[in-house]
Amino acid sequence: MIGLISCENYSDKSSRIKIGFSQSISEDDSWRKSMDNSMKVEASLHPEIDLSIYNANSSSKKQINDIENMIDNHMDVIIIAPLGNDSITPVIDKAFKKGIPIIILDRKVNTSNYTTFIGSDNVEVGKIAGKYIASRANKVTNVLEIRATTNISPGVERSLGFKQVLNQFSNINRKSITAVSLDSLNQSFSRVLDSIPNLDYVFAFNDNIALQVWDVAKKKNKIGNIKFIGVDGLNGPVGGIQAVKEGKLTATVLYPTGGSEAIKIALQIVNKEIVPKNTKLATTLIDSLNADIMSNQFDKVSQQMLNIEQQQNVIKEQEKEYITLFNLIKLLTFFIVVIVFLVLFSVYSMISIRNKNRMLQINNDKISIQRNEIQKYAKKLKISNEAKINFFTGISHEFKTPLTLILSAVESLNDEFQNKNQHLKKELVLMHNNSMRLLRLINQLLDFRKIENKDFTIRPSKINIYKFSLDIFEEFKREAKKKNIEYTIVSNCEELDLYIDQNLMDKVYYNLLSNAFKFTPDNGKIQIDIRKNDELKNVCISFKDNGIGIPMGERDKIFEIYYQGSNSTKNGSGIGLNLSKKFIDLHQGTIEVLSGIGTEFRVTLPIDSQFPESMVHLSESTSSSTKLDYEYFDTDISSQSSELGSEEKQSILIIEDNSELLEFLISKMQTEYSVFGSDGYDAIEKAFETIPDIIICDLNLPEKNGFEICKILKSNELTSHIPTIILTAMDGQENYIKSLESGADLFLNKPFNLKVLQQSIKNLLFNRERIRTFYSKNNSIITDIVGVGKNEKDFLNKIDAILVSNIDNSNFSVEELASCLHISRVQLYRKVKAILNIGIGDYIINFRLDKAIQMLKESDLNISEIAYSCGFASPNYFSTAFKNKYLISPKEYRNS
Ligand code: FRU
Repeated sequence: MIGLISCENYSDKSSRIKIGFSQSISEDDSWRKSMDNSMKVEASLHPEIDLSIYNANSSSKKQINDIENMIDNHMDVIIIAPLGNDSITPVIDKAFKKGIPIIILDRKVNTSNYTTFIGSDNVEVGKIAGKYIASRANKVTNVLEIRATTNISPGVERSLGFKQVLNQFSNINRKSITAVSLDSLNQSFSRVLDSIPNLDYVFAFNDNIALQVWDVAKKKNKIGNIKFIGVDGLNGPVGGIQAVKEGKLTATVLYPTGGSEAIKIALQIVNKEIVPKNTKLATTLIDSLNADIMSNQFDKVSQQMLNIEQQQNVIKEQEKEYITLFNLIKLLTFFIVVIVFLVLFSVYSMISIRNKNRMLQINNDKISIQRNEIQKYAKKLKISNEAKINFFTGISHEFKTPLTLILSAVESLNDEFQNKNQHLKKELVLMHNNSMRLLRLINQLLDFRKIENKDFTIRPSKINIYKFSLDIFEEFKREAKKKNIEYTIVSNCEELDLYIDQNLMDKVYYNLLSNAFKFTPDNGKIQIDIRKNDELKNVCISFKDNGIGIPMGERDKIFEIYYQGSNSTKNGSGIGLNLSKKFIDLHQGTIEVLSGIGTEFRVTLPIDSQFPESMVHLSESTSSSTKLDYEYFDTDISSQSSELGSEEKQSILIIEDNSELLEFLISKMQTEYSVFGSDGYDAIEKAFETIPDIIICDLNLPEKNGFEICKILKSNELTSHIPTIILTAMDGQENYIKSLESGADLFLNKPFNLKVLQQSIKNLLFNRERIRTFYSKNNSIITDIVGVGKNEKDFLNKIDAILVSNIDNSNFSVEELASCLHISRVQLYRKVKAILNIGIGDYIINFRLDKAIQMLKESDLNISEIAYSCGFASPNYFSTAFKNKYLISPKEYRNS
């Protein structure tokens, strides 16, 4: 806006013309004043001109400085009215060489380095005066010439012209004096008056001098017939024209100042017009005949000039007004534009707000419809969910009765077969334990439901916490023994009593201990630590194991309902820990989990918990008033299984982390096979150690899953031949493909039919048998045996290569061969037996006999030599072995 206001054409600095004028004499000199005025008037007619007038006040030095300043100010044109003609020359040269146009006015200079000279022809001026006198000199005429300072060009030239004319007339006597100064002039003129009594004419250098000497003559009363002629012819009260009119001067020669011409020519120069080197101004003689006309003319011009000046002033005023109005208009326009813009913007905003509001309203309507729908659905869902849960709870309740019946039946059967049928007893244990597990899960579900419905009431009673813990600790001892777990309980407060609900706390303990046992491998550690903190007035019961632990980021989620740890391969409902937390909350306690190597659950209970009196149960007994529902009967199936098996039976390795299922499978297989079991942690080691004839492997196992175990075993030459069956609860094509990729021979889904499993084992073993029979009936060219895998062939080729390099060494033993293969003697035996169904000893003898046959056919060596070179200790032993295999002696073979 400011830019808009300040932007006006009149002050456009770049398009302005800077004209500097160096005036030599002060404005006291009326001719000079007239020159300055005419210059100003002319310049005012051209608004683009910036005229600067420097006045040197008759000082050459000052004039030189003024011109220097004009050069520095980068004037477009410099006009100079020189005082003298010599000292000023260098600065004129300088300005001109800098490319600044120079206009010389009135007086000439001693250089040609200027653009133009403006002035009247002063010789002509002198001549006009001379001719005027001559035309009137009809007798002897005496003339006095008063010359100016000699070194200025107008003075010299005027005198010259005057002389040239008068010299032509013999009747004219000419005398001259020089007006060095005005004082000296009066004296010298006075002397002339005295010396020339009949003086006719005085011709002065200018009107001022003419009038001054007129005054002297007047004062001396000697004017008489003397006629005074001056130069300049200025108009105005003190000018030469007025003096002519008044009769003081007879005539004056017009000598124009050239002020306005100088400005006009300066403009031409700036406009790149060509100007003459010399611009001559017109001159004329003014006497009583034309003085009035001339004065009128000049008055008119002056009047016109005045008019012009006034008009210019009016124009300037109007310009100012115009500028103010223009700026106002611009300001108004700006405000109008802003207002229009604001109006448009507010209209636009209003429209868009209205549209947005409309959209929002539509969205709101949609959302409320959706919310209503969702609420309806939620209600329906809640009702249906409630119905499902009620149904589920009802069913769970229904389950409890038959389960209890089954349990009691199993218990009575167990009592009946206490010392009779060991096998049946094992089945009963399995039935009992799993029924107990089902019962416990159902109880958990019902508890969960109760908690959800908030109708769970805690029944606290005063209990010795250590004794209470010890009771439950005892219940898990058997499991610890079975898994060889270092299982301990410690306390710093064996006498401490707490108010707890035994029934609920049993469940918490059971849950935490079950988890600890579930996730702690054989030979691990589990500890219960009960520690009283007097300062905090609480007791902390920690359940610590060195099992698989809980990943860092999952510790907060572990107590969430249905949560299953990402590193857990064990199945679970995901409600046990959630329930435990809720039970602990009911006890006004906290439960937290710490995990690093293993897991630690810390249950913190307040020592002085505040339960309403009505809630507190009176019994203070520490023994379990409600018998704990643990599922362990005293059995020792696994220890028995390892003792079973004989050399004759084929062997099975069963890898299963569910100890119940493992024991079940072992018991079902051990009559027919020699059975080895593994919980998954030591699966690979067990397979290498036992080299079984077949492996049954669960898919979900701790550490490595079934696919990984199968892959490792199938890619090792010691175990690669072993047929493997994968059992899994996970169905699906992807798993089936994975099992094939891992090299498994069969993939069975859980729950499997035992008979199908047994038949599958038989089929796989039968197929292997076919291959082995094929070898034993044929010559041992391993590469040709169909059905022997690449790994096995490689293995047998390795054996052959070692045997070839020891073919003549009768002392080369099975042990040495095993150590060359970096395996044990038993492993070597089992592997060869598994592949070819023969002992490794027989394989070596067969190998030596094959070599012997080849030599019998192809060499000339005698029988003894062949016997030794094939590694038989004696020819007799060779013959016996040969006969055993081929039913004829080596000699007969060679001859046949
Ligand atoms: C004024 C003046 C004039 C004269 C001119 C010559 O200073 O003396 O009277 O005509 O200068 O330069």
